[in-house]
Amino acid sequence: MKRIVLFFIGAVYCQGIFAQPSKKAMQQLIDENMQFAAQQYKVLAQKTPATVMPRTFQGDTLVTSNTKWWCSGFYPGTLWLIYAGTKDAAIKEEAEKRLGILEKEKTYTGNHDLGFMMYCSFGTAYDITKKPAYKDVIFTAAHSLSTRYRPSIKAIQSWDSSKNFNCPVIIDNMMNLELLEWVTQQGGDKKYHEIAVTHSNTTLKNHYRPDYSSWHVLDYNLASGGVSRKKTHQGYADESAWARGQVWGLYGYTVMYRFTKNPAYLDLAQKIAGFLLKHPNLPADKIPYWDFNAPDIPNAKRDASAGSIMASALLELAQYSKGKVKDEYVATAGQILESLSSPAYRAPLGSNGGFLLLHSVGSLPHNSEVDVPLTYADYYFIEALGRYKKWYL
Ligand code: GLY
Repeated sequence: MKRIVLFFIGAVYCQGIFAQPSKKAMQQLIDENMQFAAQQYKVLAQKTPATVMPRTFQGDTLVTSNTKWWCSGFYPGTLWLIYAGTKDAAIKEEAEKRLGILEKEKTYTGNHDLGFMMYCSFGTAYDITKKPAYKDVIFTAAHSLSTRYRPSIKAIQSWDSSKNFNCPVIIDNMMNLELLEWVTQQGGDKKYHEIAVTHSNTTLKNHYRPDYSSWHVLDYNLASGGVSRKKTHQGYADESAWARGQVWGLYGYTVMYRFTKNPAYLDLAQKIAGFLLKHPNLPADKIPYWDFNAPDIPNAKRDASAGSIMASALLELAQYSKGKVKDEYVATAGQILESLSSPAYRAPLGSNGGFLLLHSVGSLPHNSEVDVPLTYADYYFIEALGRYKKWYL
């Protein structure tokens, strides 16, 4: 018996502690998902009226949004990513149409979400097509986002003041910095890079706890520049670790390292990854519960969006990491992609309103979008599949 156990441990060790799925298996999984996504998004396209964007599918009904909704860039972005993976002309045609209705939001300044809205859409489109008109849209959007920078707090204000918050900055805001960095990198004003770096430094200083989990919302005092309160909006409790917030931070600091090569950003991203991957409440299939401290774990809802964002972020973080941690990031991302591709999370063709993934959570405390498909879960799933193919096959 002892000999069998030793042999087993030896076999696993020889393959590496974090054994990757075989390249052939991943190639098949990625190609099958891309073909599936092209077919499934034709169902979504056919259901979605021309002037709005799909948002979710609830109670057998497609829920749509106008183009000011923070998620309006994900549907066109996903179409572009599917096009990149399949070269399906009908998908490209739909992607171009949807950029057409979104473009007007390049001057929107009502919140911090311009990066999600305009970079995940036009940025993805530019990456694939190199069409100059798309670049112009992104440059205008960077200017719009920069108007929300508040020098007194050294950060971008996420939402306008309300009865709940004076000057809220949410961890999600790290995701909007790629837009700013990209524009400076492409020859735009250096101030966009400076804003992104200053915001990242302020967030690193104030948003992170000693265990490298983050608060969701910090309410700043514009007059003093200090933090008044540390709260949640979409998490279980002020002191809990809301899953999507954790993975937004992971993704955001990885992107900031890509642009700046500041080792403090890489260090933080790796520490956030450590918090996530070593957490006793991360399930065996690596799809997080909606909050790492949800009181009803193991019966708490899963958040497939947190899983897909985490997979995509880990695949990029692995590019900047070495040895055992690199292997762990790639293996975990592969495991997430396998889980999301299984019937436990991926909808059968023609169902789910045309969305790819089931089981995401928008905001459980508001009883909004609980255990439903969400556009960003699909977006980061397809992005992660593409990244795996580009970097690891
Ligand atoms: N504010 C973006 C999110 O719900 O994750």
